[in-house]
This record gives sequence, C-alpha cells and structure tokens, in this order.
Amino acid sequence: MKINDIDMRRWKEYDDIITDSLWIFPARDNTGAHTPEYHGNFIPQIPRQAMLRFTRRGEWVLDTFAGLGTTLIEARRLGRNAVGIEINGEIARKAMDLVENEDNVYNVETRIIVGDSTSEEVYEDLGNFQMVIMHPPYWDIIKFSNKGGDLSASQSLDEFLNKFRRAVHLASQHLDEERYLVLVIGDKYSKGEWIPLGFYTMREVMDEGFTLKSIVVKNIEENRGKRGQYALWRYRALKDGYYIFKHEYVMFFVKNS
Ligand SMILES: C[S@@+](CC[C@H](N)C(=O)[O-])C[C@H]1O[C@@H](n2cnc3c(N)ncnc32)[C@H](O)[C@@H]1O
Repeated sequence: MKINDIDMRRWKEYDDIITDSLWIFPARDNTGAHTPEYHGNFIPQIPRQAMLRFTRRGEWVLDTFAGLGTTLIEARRLGRNAVGIEINGEIARKAMDLVENEDNVYNVETRIIVGDSTSEEVYEDLGNFQMVIMHPPYWDIIKFSNKGGDLSASQSLDEFLNKFRRAVHLASQHLDEERYLVLVIGDKYSKGEWIPLGFYTMREVMDEGFTLKSIVVKNIEENRGKRGQYALWRYRALKDGYYIFKHEYVMFFVKNS
C-alpha cells in the first residue's frame, strides 16, 4: 500500500521533507490564508510535513480539534480533502472564512463541523479517512470555552484524559488500517510539578490500538502570551528549579490492522 506521493527513485530530491525527530522552525508560515491570529493554533509546517509524508493527493484528512483551520488550509493547498471538528461555532466560522481565502487549485472538498469530537453523533455522516490529526487543548493551559465537551474545561487530569481517549476511539473508527494518527501536544506545569500530558496522551492512543512510530520534539516559538515576559519566566525558573517549556511533541502512530 502506497501512503504518500513520494517517488523513491527520486528520494534525494525531497529536501523539504523532514526525516529527523528534532524540528526547529524559526517562524510560522503565514502565507496564503494562514493567519498569525492566535487561538492556540499550531504552525502550518506541522500538518504539512505530516500530510506530505503519510497521505496522497486526493485522500481524506480528519482534524478533531480544528481551531482556526490550519490543517484544513494546508490540506487544500496540498490537494487533500479535509474535515475539521470544532466545538466553538464562532471559531469554526472564522476557520471556514480563512479556508475559503485559500485557492482551491486541486478542487478538493473542505468541511468543518461545529460539534464535540467526543460525541458519537458528530461522526455519523463521515466516511473513511487516511489520516487523523489531533491537536487538543493542553488540558486547561488555554481555556477555550466552558462547553461540556471542551477538553480545556476538564476539572481533573482524569477527566481530560478520558475525553481525549473518547475522541481517539471515535476518530479511529473512521481511520483506515495501517494509516497515521498524528498527535500534537505539549506538557503542563502546575504547583511545582511537571505534568507530562504528552506521555499520558501517548499512552491513551497506544491503548486504543495504535503503534507508536515516532516522537518528534518541536521548538515552541514565542507566542503573544509570552512575548516580552521572558525575563520574568527565566527569573522564576532559576528561583524555583525548573526549565521553561521550549518544546512540544508531534507523535506519529499507525492504526493496527
Ligand atoms: C489547540 S486548539 C487547535 C488549534 C488548531 N490546530 C489550529 O491550528 O487552529 C484546540 C481546539 O480544540 C477545540 N476543542 C476543545 N474541545 C473540543 C471538543 N470536544 N471537540 C471539538 N473541538 C474541541 C477548542 O475550541 C480549540 O479550538
């Protein structure tokens, strides 16, 4: 089964495709419809790398936490059909406006569903996908909304992980066997303790019938929230004996057959 459009006879020509597990991106790609507007969004280079490596043109990609639609915009650019699920209606509408600003050169379909990716009914009309991308809230680091299903409104770590697991379970029923699920997540620091959300969520995905293929460590670029506050963060880190988050994870899993 061929899962990308890479021609291995010309493998030396794909300079833009990363094969190392350390990803340092100096800046966000804000070209085309991509917006620097911040809503906990990831940089387009993440879904781009994932889709170039593990999908083919014309295939279908599902993003269960679509946010401002970075995956959807990048999918359209690369000629992949895409569906996003986003619990916040206002953000979903903004995402769709952004997507429509991106030229549809390959004539693909792009859809966003306003709904809760932990709820079965959201998936009812969906067919099968060849990739699932999940960029959930990093528990409650950013409170996206107070809606019941919103992972960022979880009152405890267990509640967060249960909801996340439910979304993996439901999405996985629409993912073809031997195809990739990509999880993008960072850790959390609370009350003097590093909470390894990355490793906890990794375990949940594996327990849902996936094999871990890679853990990529990616640099975190300064976002609006932290800009200008670095000196204060450094002071606190030196005083309290911890390290400042400068990385997050992009984890690649394959659905077992
Ligand atoms: C980290 S952001 C994803 C950002 C996205 N990758 C982008 O680049 O714009 C997480 C998103 O998940 C949404 N969300 C949280 N719980 C959800 C749920 N149960 N179902 C669907 N969306 C949810 C939040 O509203 C937020 O927009």
